[in-house]
Amino acid sequence: MVKTTTAAVAGVLSLCVCVLLAAGVQPAAADAGGYGYGGKKSIEATVREVVEKAIKRRPAVGPALVRLVFHDCWVNGCDGSVLLEKTPYSSSTEKAAVNNIGLDGFDVIDAIKAKLGAAVSCADIVVLAGRDASAILSRGRVTYDVATGRKDGVVSSAAAADAVLPEPTFEFAQLKDNFARKGFTQGELVILSGAHSIGVAHLSSFQDRLNDSTATPIDDQYRAALSADVGRQKMSQNTPNPTEKNNIRDMGAAFQQAAGYDATGVDTSAVGALDNSYYHNNLQNRVLFKSDWVMRTDGDAASDLAEYRDNATKWDVDFSAAMSKLSKLPAEGTHFEIRKSCRCTNQNYY
Ligand code: HEM
Ligand SMILES: *[C@@H]1O[C@H](CO)[C@@H](O)[C@H](O)[C@H]1NC(C)=O
Ligand SMILES: *[C@@H]1O[C@H](CO)[C@@H](O)[C@H](O)[C@H]1NC(C)=O
Repeated sequence: MVKTTTAAVAGVLSLCVCVLLAAGVQPAAADAGGYGYGGKKSIEATVREVVEKAIKRRPAVGPALVRLVFHDCWVNGCDGSVLLEKTPYSSSTEKAAVNNIGLDGFDVIDAIKAKLGAAVSCADIVVLAGRDASAILSRGRVTYDVATGRKDGVVSSAAAADAVLPEPTFEFAQLKDNFARKGFTQGELVILSGAHSIGVAHLSSFQDRLNDSTATPIDDQYRAALSADVGRQKMSQNTPNPTEKNNIRDMGAAFQQAAGYDATGVDTSAVGALDNSYYHNNLQNRVLFKSDWVMRTDGDAASDLAEYRDNATKWDVDFSAAMSKLSKLPAEGTHFEIRKSCRCTNQNYY
């Protein structure tokens, strides 16, 4: 019942979402008292259980939960603002941002909120769920502690998200500057970009890479194989803007052969795994985004790429640390609350 589509984002429909959730949250909030005393452990166990079940049921939600941490914490800090569909200030919330295309996992956040009620903020749920998704998808190799106690913000704007989030067509200097503004180093840019070993991207996010006149030097065979597959996906997904898998490892043997992929050092059976395969692919010119490719153009970043390609453990360790740092970005703003529904500020919660 809590499942809603992004079609419900705008206008009066979002009101209905809040009403629906009100009914769903009330009974669970009553037994949430136990979590208040049980403390962090029962909260963490509950989040883990819901995330595990959700990924089993719908594997695509795993990468979405990892990305959600980045997209929440980068904009106003980790404050749950990415979850809002309506605030007293705006109905064009972060979800409507161009840079938030494909964002997903909101149903999982709702399901966790329904179980834990007032014991935990929506901002905490986002970072906990993202941490658990990272652990599950990396088969236990990415692990880090997450403190709770975040509060939920009441401000969310599409324009702010589009101004603050990096874009896949960015040059290296723009990416570096974007990360520096949040206190992240160039090294951390390279480390966190390894998250593109999982999940999918819409054609509109990598279209420039298929065009002869705008393409950064993507491998020719990969580009040809990708263009052909995009044609097929337009038909099978029945949309002019279909998705492709970020990781050529996950594309199947026929595609890999057509694309001239050298899988040496990559565990091709680990389909869907969060690991260092991104670095193998990038150094072979077989990644989707220009923003991934441009890291090859800087000497230091390029040597980091090689280091993470050659040392899987180092990437697991450094990625865990960078995700932990990301999860600690402090909420900006002056008004906070523990939301009743993660989709609406409490003032809009009828
Ligand atoms: C460095 C700058 C970054 C840029 C320019 C960027 C850009 C993008 C774009 C364009 C997509 C595809 C969206 C779509 O078309 O549906 C995407 C997907 C994704 N990104 Fe990034 N990203 C960046 C950094 C990160 C970071 C730091 C993380 C780590 C938390 C991350 C995790 C993901 C994941 C997991 C997906 C797949 C999501 C899914 O399948 O639902 N990205 N990114
Ligand atoms: C390729 O890019 C050029 C320059 O931006 C544009 O004029 C052209 O329409 C693009 N071609 C395709 C097939 O998208
Ligand atoms: C790989 O990285 C780990 C963690 O940083 C380090 O302990 C190990 O010595 C590295 N292995 C090699 C072969 O460099």
